[in-house]
Amino acid sequence: MRTKIVAGNWKMNQDLEGTRSLLRDLVANLPRTSVSVMVAPPFVNLPEAVALLQGVSVEVAAQNMHFADSGAYTGEISAEMLLSVGVKTVILGHSERRAYFREDDELLSKKVGKAVEKGMNVIFCFGEELADRYDGKHFEVVERQLKNALFDLPETAWKQIILAYEPVWAIGTGETASPEQAQEMHAFIRKQVAGACSESVAEGISILYGGSVKPGNAAEIFSKPDVDGGLIGGASLVADDFIAIIKAFG
Ligand code: PGA
Repeated sequence: MRTKIVAGNWKMNQDLEGTRSLLRDLVANLPRTSVSVMVAPPFVNLPEAVALLQGVSVEVAAQNMHFADSGAYTGEISAEMLLSVGVKTVILGHSERRAYFREDDELLSKKVGKAVEKGMNVIFCFGEELADRYDGKHFEVVERQLKNALFDLPETAWKQIILAYEPVWAIGTGETASPEQAQEMHAFIRKQVAGACSESVAEGISILYGGSVKPGNAAEIFSKPDVDGGLIGGASLVADDFIAIIKAFG
């Protein structure tokens, strides 16, 4: 049985007070569930989030990290720093990092390698742009993103990896991949992992879908056999919506 995951990527939203109040609302209404729930607030609010979620089964993740251990990298945050405040999971490769901060496959491979070396879990994001899909290149693009950043990992590292397929054209646009499109791509991704690593790793890895997941469409997307959860942006900022999405797993 693969782990079902619903993770909220808050992006650059919520100051300290906003973080407190959103987490309070979340904790107060959290359903009893077998779904693994995660939230990724901005860096500065990670310690507060960890403190507020003590004893609650909601894990705190970071939205990014640097590949070096420490040093002259102004403005950056290392794996050790995240671990030191109780954060063991990091989102890497988000399309906004790729687009606005020029993060490419080579850089992401270093970041993933460092996170894995430090014992962290990685939610690795990838996905094609609209033009790729129009050109029929979506499978090719996804295959390349996976291969360049992940396929050199040793088999033992894969238990630290969660995959998040996020077609760029569906992020924050209100446009969702149809459940069939998501299933088709997730099955393809699982096949790639089987080929690059092993059948058992491919069978066990959680593959999340991200891109305009809302309470109204979550259940249908999550019902697909190769969709193991969601990476939620906008809807994770509204406690009721995020909770409804968690409940969509039934
Ligand atoms: P969205 O964002 O749910 O607002 O589309 C998803 C994401 O960027 O992870």
